[in-house]
Amino acid sequence: MSASRMILLGPPGAGKGTQAAGLINRLGIPHVSTGDMLRAAVNAETPVGLKAKAIMDAGELVSDDVVIGIAEERLSEDDAKNGFLLDGFPRTMAQAEALEGLLSKLGVELDCCLAITVDNDAVVERLLKRAEIEGRADDNEETIRERMREYDNKTAPLLDFYTGRGVLTEVDGMGTIDEVEERIKQALEG
Ligand code: AP5
Ligand code: MG
Repeated sequence: MSASRMILLGPPGAGKGTQAAGLINRLGIPHVSTGDMLRAAVNAETPVGLKAKAIMDAGELVSDDVVIGIAEERLSEDDAKNGFLLDGFPRTMAQAEALEGLLSKLGVELDCCLAITVDNDAVVERLLKRAEIEGRADDNEETIRERMREYDNKTAPLLDFYTGRGVLTEVDGMGTIDEVEERIKQALEG
C-alpha cells in the first residue's frame, strides 16, 4: 500500500472512523478527523466548540471557514509531513478547493480519495446502536437524517470532483467490518 495522503469520504455511519483505525496503523500516518476535533472543542468549551455545538447537534455542517482553519492547522503539523488520513474533511466544494490550495502550498499531492458507499437506510441502524453505547449527541434519528441530507446536498458532489482529479476509489461499505476492511486493502493494492 503506497497511498499516504488520503481522504476517507462517505455518508454518516459509512464506517470512516472504524476503517480509519486499521488504515492509520498499516500506513503509519495520522488520523485527521474534523468531527473528532470539533467534538473535542465542544467538550473543552473553546470558542470554536461553543460556536459549533448547536450546529452539530442539529446535524448541519459547521461553516467552511472554521473547519478549513482547523484542518489547515492540523495538516501543517510535523507529523502530517509524510502523510495523513483525512476523515470527514473535505465535505463541501469550498473545503475541497481549500485543500487543493493547501496541498499545493505544501508541495504535495493527494494520493487517493477512498469513498465508502453504503445504503443510507441500512446504516441508520448502526448509528442508533452507537447512540446506546457512546451517547453521541447527534446520533438520534432526526439528526442522522439531517446529516444524511447534508451529505447528499453538499458532500456527494465531491465524488465527481475527485473522479475528475483521477484519485477516486470506491469501496462497498456494506457487510461486516472485516469484509469492508478486506475490500479496502484490495482496492488500495490494486
Ligand atoms: P463526523 O464526526 O465526521 O460524523 P459523520 O460523518 O456524520 O459520520 P460518523 O462519524 O457518524 O460515521 P463514520 O463514517 O465515521 O462511521 P463509524 O466508523 O463511526 O461529523 C460530525 C459533525 O461534525 C457533522 O455533522 C458536522 O456538524 C461537523 N463536521 C465534521 N467535519 C466537518 C466538515 N468537514 N465540515 C463541516 N462540518 C463538519 O461507524 C458508525 C457506527 O457503525 C459505529 O458504531 C461502528 O462501530 C459501526 N460500524 C462501522 N462499520 C460497520 C459495519 N461494517 N457493520 C456494522 N457496524 C459498523
Ligand atoms: Mg466518524
